[in-house]
Amino acid sequence: MKLKLKLKLIVVLLFSISHLISVSSWKKEEFRSCNETPFCKRARSRTPHHSNLIASDVTIRDGDLTAKLITPTPIDGNHNSSSNSSSDSSSPPLILSLSVYQGGILRMKIDEDPSHNPPKKRFQVPDVILPDFEISKKIWLQRYSTDAGSGSSSFVVYLSDGYEAVVSNDPFEVFVRERGGGGRRVLSFNSHGLFDFEKLRKKEEGEEWEERFRSHTDSRPFGPQSISFDVSFHGADFVYGIPEHATSLALKPTKGPGIESEPYRLFNLDVFEYLAESPFGLYGSIPFMLSHGSAHGTSGFFWLNAAEMQIDVLGSGWDDAGEDANQEKRKRIDTVWMSEAGIVDAFFFIGPEPKDVVKQYASVTGTSAMPQLFATGYHQCRWNYRDEEDVKNVDAKFDQHDIPYDVLWLDIEHTDGKRYFTWDRALFPNPEEMQKDLASRGRRMVTIVDPHIKRDDKYHIHKEASENGYYVKDASGDKDYDGWCWPGSSSYIDMVNPEIRSWWADKFAYTEYVGSTPSLYIWNDMNEPSVFNGPEVTMPRDAIHYGNIEHRELHNAYGYYFHMATSEGLLKREGGKDRPFVLSRAIFPGTQRYGTVWTGDNTAEWEQLRVSVPMILTLGITGITFSGADVGGFFGNPDTELLVRWYQVAAYLPFFRGHAHHDTKRREPWLFGEHNTELMRDAIRVRYTFLPYFYTLFREANVTGVPVARPLWMEFPHDEATFNNDEAFMVGNGLLVQGVYTQHAKEVTVCLPRDHTWYDLKTGTAYKGGRAQKMEVTDADIPVFQRSGTIIPRKDRFRRSTVQMENDPYTLVIAVDSSGGAEGEVYIDDGKSYEFQKGGYIHRRFIFSDGKLISVNLNVASSSSSSQGTSFYSDCTIERIILLGYSSSSKPPKSARIEPTNRVADIELGPLQIRSGVRSAVLTIRKPNVRVSDDWTIKLL
Ligand code: NOJ
Repeated sequence: MKLKLKLKLIVVLLFSISHLISVSSWKKEEFRSCNETPFCKRARSRTPHHSNLIASDVTIRDGDLTAKLITPTPIDGNHNSSSNSSSDSSSPPLILSLSVYQGGILRMKIDEDPSHNPPKKRFQVPDVILPDFEISKKIWLQRYSTDAGSGSSSFVVYLSDGYEAVVSNDPFEVFVRERGGGGRRVLSFNSHGLFDFEKLRKKEEGEEWEERFRSHTDSRPFGPQSISFDVSFHGADFVYGIPEHATSLALKPTKGPGIESEPYRLFNLDVFEYLAESPFGLYGSIPFMLSHGSAHGTSGFFWLNAAEMQIDVLGSGWDDAGEDANQEKRKRIDTVWMSEAGIVDAFFFIGPEPKDVVKQYASVTGTSAMPQLFATGYHQCRWNYRDEEDVKNVDAKFDQHDIPYDVLWLDIEHTDGKRYFTWDRALFPNPEEMQKDLASRGRRMVTIVDPHIKRDDKYHIHKEASENGYYVKDASGDKDYDGWCWPGSSSYIDMVNPEIRSWWADKFAYTEYVGSTPSLYIWNDMNEPSVFNGPEVTMPRDAIHYGNIEHRELHNAYGYYFHMATSEGLLKREGGKDRPFVLSRAIFPGTQRYGTVWTGDNTAEWEQLRVSVPMILTLGITGITFSGADVGGFFGNPDTELLVRWYQVAAYLPFFRGHAHHDTKRREPWLFGEHNTELMRDAIRVRYTFLPYFYTLFREANVTGVPVARPLWMEFPHDEATFNNDEAFMVGNGLLVQGVYTQHAKEVTVCLPRDHTWYDLKTGTAYKGGRAQKMEVTDADIPVFQRSGTIIPRKDRFRRSTVQMENDPYTLVIAVDSSGGAEGEVYIDDGKSYEFQKGGYIHRRFIFSDGKLISVNLNVASSSSSSQGTSFYSDCTIERIILLGYSSSSKPPKSARIEPTNRVADIELGPLQIRSGVRSAVLTIRKPNVRVSDDWTIKLL
C-alpha cells in the first residue's frame, strides 16, 4: 500500500516536473498543425466550386424560410466528391433555415434532415444566445419576394430599410446586399462553392475512423462530421476578431499566392510561453469576425459552434481570378471557416458603423456584466503569496509606498494539496481574519478554483461528484475520465449539465467554502480544460458529457460553462445582491456576461507587451471588454524598464493585474529603487484618477456592448490611417493612448486621427491630428491625449483603494473642439449591488458650449415619477474644472457664475495633473463645488 502511494507520488512529481520543464518554450510539436488534423487538411485542399448544392422546396413558415439543400444527380452519373460529403447525390438532403431578427440580423442554420434518421443528433450550443434575442424574430421575417433569373431563381428577404438577404438556389448561395441602387453586396456565404458538410453515417467496410496524434488515439466513433464554407466580406480593407491569438489586430492572410501559414486556429488550449506572433489557438475561442473598410464600413459574421475551428483569411489572388475580379477583390476579403463537428448556426451583421456591429453581436450573445468598482482598480497577484505573513507584508508595503491597489490574489499553493475550496492551514491558519483585515482597509482577496478535482476519497468535492455521477466520462461512457493536472490524478466536473452547475454554484456558500468571507472573489484557471497528459494538453475528444455529447462537439465551450457556474455561485452566496467577480482563462461567446478574462501565460518580453494591446482590443470588439494581460509578463524576469512601461500601458487597459510565475524574482513595484517605484506609482495613480471615466465606460459597455478599450477605427471609421494601427488605442471616445514597446525609446511616432485636436494629458499641449508625428518620450510616461470635443471625469486625490475614494470630489477636464464645444458623461452607482438595474444610479451628461457648462440628467428612472425605481444619491461635488483649448473672443475668463445658486468661482491657472515632476498651467475653475448629482449651469465670465 505504502509502495503504491510512493509510486503514485513519483508519477505526480514526474508529471509536474515535465510540465514545468515544458514551460521553458513553446513546444510546437505538442500541438496539431492543420496538416495533422484530417478535417482541416481535407477542407483546405478543396478548390473553388467544389460544392454543387441546390436549394429546393423553399417555403416560408412561422417566420422562417426553410429549404432543402440537395445535390442534383449528374447526367453522366459520376462526380468526384468524397462519399460522405454534402456533395454526394445519394445522401439525404440538408435542411436550411433562415430567420431575421430585430436589428436586421440574419441567422442561418444548416443541419441534417431529422426525417432521414441520422445516427445521432448533432450538438447545438445551448445557453449562449440570449432568450430575448430568440423571441425577437417572427415579427421580422415579413417581407420577401422571388427574383426569377436566367435558369435560376432566388428569394429576397427584407432585413432592414437599408439591407436585404438573398438566397440563390442554383448554385446555392446566401448573401446580404444593400437595398435599391446598385444593390452592393456586404457579406456572402458559399460564393466560392467551398461549402461542405460531412453527414453522419455508418462506417463502411475496411474504413478506419480512428485518428492518432503522438501517443494518443481518438476513437472517433461517429466518423467524419466536419463542416466548412467560405464567407466573403465585401467592401472590406481588413478583417479583425476571432480571438484568441497572439497576433496583430488586422488579421494577416493565411493562404494565397506567396503566403504559407497555418489557418487561425480556434481550439481552447493551455499553451506555455506562447509566441508573440502566431495564428495558433490559445485559451479561448470566439468565432466572430468583423470587417472594416472605406467602401462599406463594418460588417460581421458569427458562427456559433463549439468544436475545433480553423479559419483561413485568403490573400488577394488565392483563387487565380483574372484582372477584373482582382479589381473587385481589392474591396473584398474572402475567408474559409472549417469546424470538426456541430451544425451551421451563423449570424450576419450588417453594421454599417463599427459600433453597430458590436451592438448587433451583443444583442445575440449579451453585453458585459457591470463590474464592481473595486474590480476596475489595480490587482496584485503572484504565484504565490506564500502565507499570511507574506500577504500582510505585501499589503502593508503598498501603503508604505503610497501605491493604491484593491485586490490581493492567492494562486494554487494556498490550498490543501490543490483541493480547491480548502486552505493549507499551516500557511493560512486564519483565512477569515486575513480577509477581514484586508477588508478593513477596503481591500478584497481573490482565490483560485480550477475545474480539475483531485481524486481523493477524503476530499468532499470529489466524494460528492463521483457519487452523484457529476464527472465527464471517458470514451467508454461509463467511467469517470481521469487525467493529470496540478493535484495529480483528477476528474473534471461536467459543467454542461445545468443540475451539476447548480451543485457547483452551491459550493461557494460560506458554509461550504469554509474560510471564505464576503470580500473573497474567484479566479477560474486551467478551464480549457488543461490536462497535462491529455492530447494537446487537453481532454480527449472522445470523452463523453451529459446527454451523450462528445467532448469534441463542445470543447471550446467547456470553460465557459465552468465560468458561468462559478459566477452563479458568487451570485447565490449573497442572495443575488453582490455582483460576482470571476476571472477566467478559457473563453467563448457569452463569457462577457459572467466575468473578466486575461490573456494567460505571456512572457516578460517587449514583443509580448506590444501584442497584449491587439489581443485585448480584439477581445473587446468580440464582446469581452473586461480583459487584460499579466503586467510584467508571467514567465521570466522583465528588466525594470519593461516592467515600468508595462504598468504605463496596462494602466489604460480594462483589467489591470500584475502577476508572475513562481520561478521569477519578486517584482512588487517597490523593489526597483525609489525612482522606478515613483514611475510605477504614477502609472497606477493615473489609473485611479481615471476610474470615474472607466466606470462610466464599463456602464456603456454593459448597456450597449461597445468596449472600453477601442481600436482607433472604431472611433474614426473614415480615417483610413487608423484601420491598421494597433500600437495606439482609445479609452472610450476621449483618450488616445500610444504605447511604447521598445527599450530605450527616446521618441515614438504617433498618428493622431485627423479632424481633431489632441491635448497632451500631462502638459495640455495641443496637436493637430491627421499626420504621423515624432514625439519625444521619457521614462516618466507614455504619450496619452484627450480628444477635442470631450469632457472626462476624474478623481484626482490620492487614496489607497477605490473604497477610500468613494466620497472624493471630481475633476472635469473639458477639451474644446473647433466650435468651442465639448461633451462627456459620468455614471455613478453604489459600485457593488444590482440596485442600478432598478434605477439606483446617477448618470449625467455635461455639455459645454458658448462658454457655458450644463449638467443634464440621463437617468430616466430618477426623472420619472415611477414608484418602482430605487434612487442613488451622492454628496460628491466637483472641485475643479479644467479647460483645454478654450479661447474667448475677448480676454480670458477670470471667474464663473454658478446657477441656480448664483455663486461665483475663481478661474486661475492650475496644474493639469497632480503628479511628480509635472509643471503645466491650464485654465482651471477652482472650487465650483456643485454636486455631481444636481442640475446646474456654470457660465464663464
Ligand atoms: C496557469 C495560469 O495561467 C497562471 O496564471 C497560474 O499562475 C498558474 N496556472 C498556476 O495556477
